Amino acid sequence: TRPLKVALLGCGVVGTQVARLMTVHAEDLAARIGAPLELAGIAVRRPDKLREGGFDPALITTDAAALAAREDVDVVVEMIGGIEPARSLITAAFEHGASVVTANKALLAEDGPALYAQAEKYGADLYYEAAVAGAIPLLRPLRESLAGDKVNRVLGIVNGTTNFILDRMESSGAGYGEALQEATALGYAEADPTADVEGFDAAAKAAILAGIAFHTRVRLDDVHREGLTEVSAADIASARRMGCTVKLLAICERAADGRSVTARVHPAMIPLTHPLASVREAYNAVFVEADAAGQLMFYGPGAGGAPTASAVLGDLVAACRNKLAGARGPGESAYTQLPVSPMGEV
Ligand code: NDP
Ligand code: HSE
Repeated sequence: TRPLKVALLGCGVVGTQVARLMTVHAEDLAARIGAPLELAGIAVRRPDKLREGGFDPALITTDAAALAAREDVDVVVEMIGGIEPARSLITAAFEHGASVVTANKALLAEDGPALYAQAEKYGADLYYEAAVAGAIPLLRPLRESLAGDKVNRVLGIVNGTTNFILDRMESSGAGYGEALQEATALGYAEADPTADVEGFDAAAKAAILAGIAFHTRVRLDDVHREGLTEVSAADIASARRMGCTVKLLAICERAADGRSVTARVHPAMIPLTHPLASVREAYNAVFVEADAAGQLMFYGPGAGGAPTASAVLGDLVAACRNKLAGARGPGESAYTQLPVSPMGEV
């Protein structure tokens, strides 16, 4: 069987781990997919930067546009982040027949429907399990395992950086700035950590989750957003005195009459007895409530290079299997356009 060619756009915290796992697990991946994977190229900004990952340095290029548009590439893995050039590169990949795997929640929350439309037009796949809750299998269960149920609520901690900061401030008395610096050094924070601490990242994830869970379209702007910047050490200490801890929550709900949905992100006081209170470091935890299934909890590492790359590799395997089978994975399931009210009924 001919090798399946993979173009990797971006080789930072996550991209490096994607390249490493592709190399380390090459034989197993070939067996699972039914064909070997071949890295066709790796696009970066700074070609001279030293990178781990165990790949041939000759694969590095600064011409991401040319790599994304190569006719012989089967799957483009977009690990750059942000809106541009990521959006144009993904568009070029679809136009040239490739499927796309991405972890780019910012772009999906801004332009998800247009990306799905392109994937549909060119008969390609769009996978993005890593965009929400890092290593935790969450989007696939929502899209596939729960496809026969009715999801009413998705609630939880979906940003590792802010959970890490709150945890450090509470457990070791670290200052906000010091804790943020540590989260950045560990590879949890976004390239611009404002996205984490001001709640944009969690709001983008809430938009993605609400869209998938309620089969509708929700954009970043539809989500009520309050970040962490107003939470002080004194707030955390007084929450503690009341038997609570502070967590940044994303809450997506279907209204009781089923005619609208709400999506919001804000800090909340959680009783220490609640399972969310024991989510430490950069872990995430998400509750899903569905009519027939009842309450489900998804828990695990929510950020970081290797955990995120695990989810990316899962998507890569799925996209490659589809390529070989001449099949496609699930497309957008947005058959309703429910009004989104940011805060819901009070
Ligand atoms: P990094 O900033 O560590 O890496 C970004 C990579 O993109 C770098 O290799 C950079 O090159 C490259 N790059 C930037 N601009 C260009 C360009 N114009 N052309 C070519 N290459 C470019 O980001 P992360 O790895 O942390 O994140 C990547 C994606 O994964 C983002 O969408 C992020 O939101 C998402 N994500 C990240 C998680 C995490 O824990 N870090 C978890 C879940 C999702 P160079 O190395 O030369 O600077
Ligand atoms: N910056 C993000 C976070 C990465 O801290 O959760 C994972 O999406």
